[in-house]
Amino acid sequence: MQEKYHIITYGCQMNLHESEKIAGVLRRMGYEETETKEDADIIVFNTCCIRENAENHAFGNIGALKKLKKEKPSLLIIVGGCMTQEKGKTEILAKKFPFIDVMFGTLNLEELESLIEQKRKAKKRVVKIREKEGEIVENLEPYRTSYPNAWVNITYGCNNFCSYCIVPYVRGRERSRKAENIVAECENLISQGYKEITLLGQNVNSYGADGSTGATFAELLDKVASIDGKFRLRFMTSHPKDFNEDVVKVMQKHRKIMRLVHLPVQSGSNAVLQAMNRRYTREKYLAEVKMLRSYFPEAEVTTDIIVGFPGETEEDYLQTEALVKEVDFASAFTFVYSKRTGTKAATMDGQIPEDVQKERIMRLVALVNSLTRKKSEKYLGKTVEILCEDFDEKRGYYMGRDEFGRMGYFKSEKNVIGEFVLLKITQANGISLYGEAVKDLDK
Ligand code: 5AD
Ligand code: SF4
Repeated sequence: MQEKYHIITYGCQMNLHESEKIAGVLRRMGYEETETKEDADIIVFNTCCIRENAENHAFGNIGALKKLKKEKPSLLIIVGGCMTQEKGKTEILAKKFPFIDVMFGTLNLEELESLIEQKRKAKKRVVKIREKEGEIVENLEPYRTSYPNAWVNITYGCNNFCSYCIVPYVRGRERSRKAENIVAECENLISQGYKEITLLGQNVNSYGADGSTGATFAELLDKVASIDGKFRLRFMTSHPKDFNEDVVKVMQKHRKIMRLVHLPVQSGSNAVLQAMNRRYTREKYLAEVKMLRSYFPEAEVTTDIIVGFPGETEEDYLQTEALVKEVDFASAFTFVYSKRTGTKAATMDGQIPEDVQKERIMRLVALVNSLTRKKSEKYLGKTVEILCEDFDEKRGYYMGRDEFGRMGYFKSEKNVIGEFVLLKITQANGISLYGEAVKDLDK
């Protein structure tokens, strides 16, 4: 009988895509996927360390496997991802969970197969973490699970050192893939029938900044959008210090590029932005949004916001609220500042008490939700194009996203997963849209 793998992923799109690469490695080794831990012969935790609660989650779930491992000693337990790259973390994990078999990091994913082989031969735990990033490995074929959407890395790592953020420490310096390799991967995906490509990088705008790739981000975007066929093109994450009109001009040239930009603002206060080492001002951010909307009045912006950063006053927080209202974000990921050992902000004066952080995040979430709900109402009666991505068996609805990432639900006699569907919106519940599939666009 074929042995089975189960992967548990924490964190962002970058990690979800990395889990697809881990799955690719395991399938080439002969494993097949299983939905349950109990059925698995190998369990991989792809961890995240961006905030403390992501780490706590992983710790809890790894610990919960103690019993299963006892009952089935042949089960291989593997821990990888951002957490193992943190200084001293593998030692803590090894001590707390002696039953872990293999640990690897984000910088040596390509070694996973050989580490598993070593473990099989040696019987004792195998731990290998690379401290410094190496050359980009191009031949790690992912096993994609997100059809009709596909993620494509364009850069790895980050050079920005925002003072709160651990990413540059665990993912190394920024490296860009060669434009020809990215374009070839995208062409291949389109020819396989994928309908949406999302280009991924911590700061897509600095793609090719070292001059090694033969293209800037705007040029790369142009090349990918020029591939034949009907598909949607997205990119994330844009950094306000580098986002520019060249990119927007390429968006204007290609209707395939969605009029939605994920542009993390983090704070609306210049004092906080400076302490965060973000290297832009509130005014520059607002000017960029204005520039984007001067090209596309309908453009939507989504964002990431942190509240309770060290030194954030009530005044600073209110400036964030004011900016949120001014930009009128389509949606926002809102976070309470989480202290990460090793980052500059961890040692800053003025750490904010938990109750103040909680109170601010609650106010911010309420504000963001009210903006999202208001936008829902505008959808009523409109017809929008949805890319159908799944079927909710329990409720009997097909579902898919519009250009701006809104989820639309509808009934259909035939399976339309992977197809573009025109949806006349009849109901808007909070962030979800419901509608009827129609033939003509009638906005
Ligand atoms: N605390 C809270 N949020 C953080 N982020 C990154 N580091 C931290 C931290 N230490 C958020 C930022 C970033 C998103 C991916 O995660 O908003 O844009
Ligand atoms: Fe972290 Fe800033 Fe790099 Fe984003 S740009 S990964 S927030 S350091």
